[in-house]
Amino acid sequence: MTTGAPRMRHYKDYYSIHAQSYDELRFDSDHEVSSTVEWLLDHLEWTTESVVAEVGAGTCRYISEIELNRPGRYVAVDLNIDQLRHRPSGFLPATCGTALQLPIAAGSLAAYLAIMMIHQVPRPDVPALLLEAHRVLTPGGVLFVKTSSSWDLERRPLIPFFPSTRAVNEKRYHSITDLTETLTECGFTSEVTYRETRDLYQTSEYLKRVKGRGNTMLSFVADTEFEEGYARLVAALEGQDTYELLHHHTYILARKIRS
Ligand SMILES: C[S@@+](CC[C@H](N)C(=O)[O-])C[C@H]1O[C@@H](n2cnc3c(N)ncnc32)[C@H](O)[C@@H]1O
Repeated sequence: MTTGAPRMRHYKDYYSIHAQSYDELRFDSDHEVSSTVEWLLDHLEWTTESVVAEVGAGTCRYISEIELNRPGRYVAVDLNIDQLRHRPSGFLPATCGTALQLPIAAGSLAAYLAIMMIHQVPRPDVPALLLEAHRVLTPGGVLFVKTSSSWDLERRPLIPFFPSTRAVNEKRYHSITDLTETLTECGFTSEVTYRETRDLYQTSEYLKRVKGRGNTMLSFVADTEFEEGYARLVAALEGQDTYELLHHHTYILARKIRS
C-alpha cells in the first residue's frame, strides 16, 4: 500500500490533481503568504490606476491578498486552468497563458510578480521569459521574483528524510547569479534579498501536508523512498505537539531600465 498522495511525473498533472486541495497542502501557510505580501508592499509602489500581474499565480493566494491590501488593477496568469478555477471567488481577471508569451499588452504593467514559478521554466527558456517580462512592463516597472537559492535549498528540512529531493531541486532551481546576469542582459537592474521566515504548525497538520506531498519537490519522490522517509519523519516528531518550519527564500527586485 502506498502512503499519501500518488507520485506525479509532471507539473501539469500535479497542479490539476491537487487544485482543489492545493491551498491546504502547501507548506507556505497563510502566515508565509502575508509575510511576503507585507514585504512586497513595503518595497514596491504603484497607483490605483496601475496594472499589476502575477504570472504563475496558481490559486491566486498572493495576488488576492495584495488586492485586499492595496487598490490597483490586478490580473492573474497561469498555465494551469484548474489552479485558476480555485482562486478566491470574486477575485480579479484571471487568464490561462504562458509566461513565454503573455496575453498582456506591451508597456502596460507597473509590476510583474513571479512567486515560486521561475524554477518551473527550463533554463533555456529563462531569457525568453525575462524578455517577455521586459516587453509587458512600463519603463521603470518592476519584476519581483520569489525563489530559492542553492543555499536556501540546502536548508530544506525534508532533505534528510527524502534525499532524492536535493538533486531534483538543484537541477530545476536556477542559480541566483545566473538569474541576475541574465536580467542584466535583458535590460533590468536587480537587487537581491535573502529572507528567513517561520511557521509554527501543529505537528499533525505538518505531517498531513507532507503525506499529501504538499509541494512539487515531494511529488517527484519514488513511492518506496517516500514511505520509508515518511515513517522516519513520524518517528522523529513523535511526542512533539508543534513543529517550527523555517523557510529560506531569495527575493529579486528587478527594474526595467530601457525600452
Ligand atoms: C509553485 S506554484 C506557485 C503558485 C503561486 N505563485 C503561489 O505561490 O501560490 C507554480 C505555478 O506556476 C505555474 N507555471 C509554471 N510554468 C509556467 C509558465 N511557463 N507560465 C505560466 N505559469 C506557469 C504552474 O502552473 C503553477 O501554478
